[in-house]
This record gives sequence, structure tokens and C-alpha cells, in this order.
Amino acid sequence: CNYLVEKSRGDIIDTIVEGLERLEYRGYDSTGIAIDGDELDSTMIIKQIGKVSALKQEIAKVNPNRDVTFVSHCAIAHTRWATHGEPKQVNCHPQRSDLNNEFVIVHNGIITNFRELKTLLLNKGYKFESETDTECIAKLFKHLYDINYQNGHELDFHELTKLVLLEIEGSYGLLCRSSHYPNEVIATRKGSPLLIGVKSEKKLKVDFVDVEFPDESNLGRPETPLIAANGKAISSDDNNNITVTTNKKNPNAFLNGTGHSSSSHDDNLLPIAANEFNLRYSQSRAFLSEDGSPTPVEFFLSSDASSVIKHTKKVLFLEDDDIAHIYDGELHIHRSRREVGASMTRSIQTLEMELAQIMKGPYKHFMQKEIYEQPESTFNTMRGRIDFETSSINLGGLKAWLPAIRRARRIIMIACGTSYHSCLATRAIFEELSEIPVSVELASDFLDRKSPVFRDDICVFVSQSGETADTMLALNYTLERGALTVGIVNTVGSSISRATHCGVHINAGPEIGVASTKAYTSQYIALVMFALSLSDDRVSKLERREAIVQGLKLIPSQVKQVLKLEPKIKELCKTKLADQKSLLILGRGYQFASALEGALKIKEISYMHSEGVLAGELKHGVLALVDENLPIIAFGTRDSLFPKVLSSIEQVTARKGHPIVICNENDEVWMEKAVDSNLETLEVPQTVDCLQGLLNIVPLQLMSYWLAVNKGIDVDFPRNLAKSVTVE
Ligand code: G6P
Repeated sequence: CNYLVEKSRGDIIDTIVEGLERLEYRGYDSTGIAIDGDELDSTMIIKQIGKVSALKQEIAKVNPNRDVTFVSHCAIAHTRWATHGEPKQVNCHPQRSDLNNEFVIVHNGIITNFRELKTLLLNKGYKFESETDTECIAKLFKHLYDINYQNGHELDFHELTKLVLLEIEGSYGLLCRSSHYPNEVIATRKGSPLLIGVKSEKKLKVDFVDVEFPDESNLGRPETPLIAANGKAISSDDNNNITVTTNKKNPNAFLNGTGHSSSSHDDNLLPIAANEFNLRYSQSRAFLSEDGSPTPVEFFLSSDASSVIKHTKKVLFLEDDDIAHIYDGELHIHRSRREVGASMTRSIQTLEMELAQIMKGPYKHFMQKEIYEQPESTFNTMRGRIDFETSSINLGGLKAWLPAIRRARRIIMIACGTSYHSCLATRAIFEELSEIPVSVELASDFLDRKSPVFRDDICVFVSQSGETADTMLALNYTLERGALTVGIVNTVGSSISRATHCGVHINAGPEIGVASTKAYTSQYIALVMFALSLSDDRVSKLERREAIVQGLKLIPSQVKQVLKLEPKIKELCKTKLADQKSLLILGRGYQFASALEGALKIKEISYMHSEGVLAGELKHGVLALVDENLPIIAFGTRDSLFPKVLSSIEQVTARKGHPIVICNENDEVWMEKAVDSNLETLEVPQTVDCLQGLLNIVPLQLMSYWLAVNKGIDVDFPRNLAKSVTVE
């Protein structure tokens, strides 16, 4: 949204289309935009299935006049990953209330009661164009607007939004613009991320009233002063750094309103007493020019900072149930729900991320770049947290909680996808060092089972994005049951990092390739550091801890070493693995997680079936698949299980299989076998047993990459997958 900043329609289109391009990795089966049309207060919607490049072509076809200028304007746009309704043009967002585009919505998430709402609205005569749940929201906006208007209530946009939110269930991060509220926008969220970047040449003053709700008994009585203000105000300096000061002068500045006096009744929708919602749920904060004069300002609303960072680094993260209402260059935040005692503080943060950090640099794909960043990203995870001299660990976000965690009866690690594998990879060392039983759970299964959780449980949530819906739901589930929750998250400010009691940011930097690589190795290290912290009071573990810390120190340079295998791996992909339909990956002990993660990488991006197999289970079934043709990769690095792995691999070679073995450098056993049994080796440096998986996974990351590239697959955008799965 721009306010008093002159922009041509061309500028506006380019800005939001570029923002969409930066979000493509989150989902990309269709895209769309809504901007001001040529008629007064009209809305033009342009949408197309496919990636943003397809939308650009569609915009060129529609050919809107790019030269028209706007002093104030609000545009919304979306890139979609289908949940309801297949990818086709009518299902693309923005979705609209009617043919005149009175209310236009973009939405992430799922409206779970959309079928009931749709039936209700169909009964009211609304005609639906799409199969999406989102269309219901747009129509609900119109319906509630119309019935209130007919009853003589001209609601503010945020008041109308509150009525809409009372009706919808599910998760959402949504934006709404309307021809009834020109140049205004609503942004609201529940369970789906949303942030607001603020850009202004002039110094902004931020007024703020921190409100406490009055007694229940006083609610809804307009004659009672309903807002007991704490009298806090926030001001900003030249850099828009926010400080909180006390302001007792006008504590009721925003919210001692009188409200609307009658209710809007409709047969099927909830009857709404307008005076109640208006007074009960409003809390607000406004951005104003310091001298009270109108300030040119631009707001950038997005589900991800990467699309905002080019314009501003000052961002405010919305919380669940926030309704942000932007009009006349001001941002007001209201609450859709009443919560006694909830914190209403929303601070503006300065993002550290540089745009260059999220660009591809010299690499062909983000995935390749991220694989190659691992010497640096693994180092960054440890930076400032490990004293290699004294072998001590300092995890600031966990420190205060460690005594409580040490007292736990059990630790439950919960995650999805690659993050789940990082939990599996570190479970053994966690149990060994902490002497606390650790279970590892896939978030969706954990919830499906409604697994019992107790107040003295420690639940560790691992997530790159910090937004994965399954993980977030599991987190809420454990919070409701009083467990202590720990977040191991990459994305600062993400929902999981904010909702957990404590945690560790893995500091791997933005990961954009859908297939997770550097986040895996950094999660792995963060979890090992966590386990080390838990045992730092145990003399019996001293030696083991020291060995691990010294091992960690070498990891970044050893990863660099492993990356040198790329030419050999590339060659193997072209020769041994080309045109294969299926691939088995064998590992046991610490390397079982490497086998699962390697297989996932290969499936995700090269579309080749691959299966991670626990080597000990080979003889219980999988061996039946083995012949001279089936490609097999085996982890044969040295640890206490080496003899057993050796025997599994011998079972394979005895059946004429020719495995590719990932082994330690110059390991004589394998060097000999390479000659005798015609097997290939990929040699990696040796490290401490529990860290070996950090090095062993890298050849498989490279292999999946080259298998995909050789097939001409767009590695960063594998079909049917999204980077951040914010739906259940
Ligand atoms: C999706 C991604 C995976 C990722 C998983 C968990 O499925 O495609 O790469 O591992 O989500 O994501 P998270 O952000 O919670 O680690």
C-alpha cells in the first residue's frame, strides 16, 4: 500500500510481481493480483495458473495502462499451492465476492467450515465461481457488509472483518481489499504467518495504547468506560527504532468509542450485537506522522520477509487473531478475540537478512548454493556458542531452562520431513548424553494418535521454516497439556520460534530450495549442542563431550572436503544411476537417518523411487529386491556397528549387487573390496561417530541434485511440493 507516494500502475504491478517471485518457493501452482481498475473504486484482477512468469505473460496480454498514476493505492497478490480445488484459473487467488469485485481476498491456509459456509451463502443466492474455500470469505465479507449497510450501519473495514472472523474456522493469513473501502487493506492471521514492512522517508511517531480488558460484568455496556489504558506509549527515533515510554496524557486516545447500538440479524448467520464486538475487541495502535501531518508511507504485507526486504528492513510480525487495518497511511492493529491479560505489544524489528543472502549468486539453483554454503552455515550454527578451548556450550535461548529440562522424565522430538530426520540422526547421542529417554515423532502421526503428553514432558519442535502446520498444531497440542516446549528453528520470528518457551535458532541463513540441505546439517548441529548442554554437569561424560566438541570444530572444513566429491558423483549419476527406476540406501545406527534423508532428497527432486533401509532389516524382506541391476548405496563409515554393516553389504555383493559405498578415506577394507567385488566408493573424512552423518549426507545431497539436473527437472521447484507447508 502506498500513501502520498506517487506510483504508476506499472510500478505497482512490478513491485508486487517481484514480491511474488520471491515467494514462489512457498507454493507455485498459480498466481494472481488485484489492483485499482480504470473506473473509480473499481478493482482489476489478473490471474493465471503456473509460475509467476505465466502471470507476467497474462498481464502483458491484458495490457493494463501502466502510466496511470496513483498517490495512494493498495494492491494485493498471491502465489498459490492448491489445497481446495485443482490448479485452474478460477481457483487462483485473488478470490472475489461478486462480479463487481466488491471484496477481493488472498488467503493462505484452510477454512475448515467452508462447506457449511458455502451452503449458507448458496442459500442466500450467492453464486460461486471456484472450488476454493477462500471464495467463501470474500462472499461472507460482502454478505455481512450488505446486511449491516441495509440496517443503517456503516462499519469500519476492521469492524466488518471482526464479523467475518466470527464465522470462519480454520487457519488463515489473509488480505482483503474492497471497493467500499478504497485504498484500505485488511491483514489478519490465525495459524499462518503475516508480517508488515513499513517504509517512510519521514520520521514516524507510533502511538500506542496498551489496553486491559475490564471486568466481564462491564462488557457491552457503552455507558461504562470500557478501556482501562495502561498509559504506555511508544515513540520512535530517526531510525524508526521503537522505545516504550509512559504516556498518561491521553490513555483512551483510540478506544473509548461508543460503538454501534443495534445488532444485525440474519436467519442463519450468528446474530451479532455490534456494540459488543466494537467495544470488547478493539485494541489499536497507529502509525502517524510525528507532527500530526500526513506522512508519505508505504506498507509491504507478506507471509515472508524475503519479499519485503528489498523495500524495508523494518517489519512488524502480526500475531494470531490480529487484524491490521491500514488506511490514510496509518496502521491500526485490532484483536478479533478477547483475551484477558494477553500481551498487546507488537514491536517493529529490524531484519538482519540481506537481499543478496537470498539470491542465487553464482549457482544455477538455490539448492546447489545451499549445499555449497554448508561449510559456512554449519560454522554459523556454532558461532559464539561453543568455546573450543574449554569444550563448553552456551545456548542463550536455552540456558535458563536447562535445569528444568534435565529433570524431565522423557524428551519428545516432533517434526516433519527433513527436520524429522535430523531428530532421528541425533536421538542416540541425545539419549547417551542426557540419559533421558527420547522419542522421535512425525508431527501428523503424533497428533493422529493423540499421544499422551504430561506437564513434565519436554517437547522439542524442529522446523526450518517455523511455519509447518503439522508441527505447529502439535506444538499447540503440547502447550495445551502444559509441556515445556523447545523450538529448533531456522526462521527468526516464525510462528514456532515465537510460540515455544525457549529454543535455539539454527542460524543457517535463508533456505529457499524446496529440498532442505543446509538446514538439515545445522539442525543436526543445534541438536548435538543441545545434548551437550544437557550433560555439561556430568563428570562421567567429560571425555565424550570433549571428543564431540573437537569433532564439531572440524566439521565446516570437513564438509568442504566432501564437496570436492562432486565431479565423481556427477559421473556416477550419468553412468551407474542414469535411467534407473529405483534405488536402495542402506545404513544402520547413526547412519539410518542418513539413509532416510538421502532417499527423501532423491525422491523429492529427481522423482526416482528410493528407499532408506535399515541395514539390519535387509534380510527381513528387502533383500528380495537385490540383483545385479538394482542400484544400492551403503553407508560404510567406521563406528561400533561397522562389522554389522560390512556383513549387510556382503549380503548384497553375494547376490551380485554392486553397491556404491560411502566410506572413510583410505579405509583399507573398502579399498580391497572395491577391487574384489567391483564396488564404487565415495570417501569422506572421518569424524566422531555421532557426527559422521553430517558428512555422510553431503554426497547424497549432491547426488540428488545431479540426478534431477540430468533429467532437466527444475530443482528448486519440484512438482507437487512446497517449501513451507502451512496447511495440515
Ligand atoms: C516440507 C518441505 C521439506 C521439509 C518439511 C518440514 O515438506 O518440502 O523440505 O523438510 O516441509 O519443514 P520445516 O520447515 O518444518 O522444517
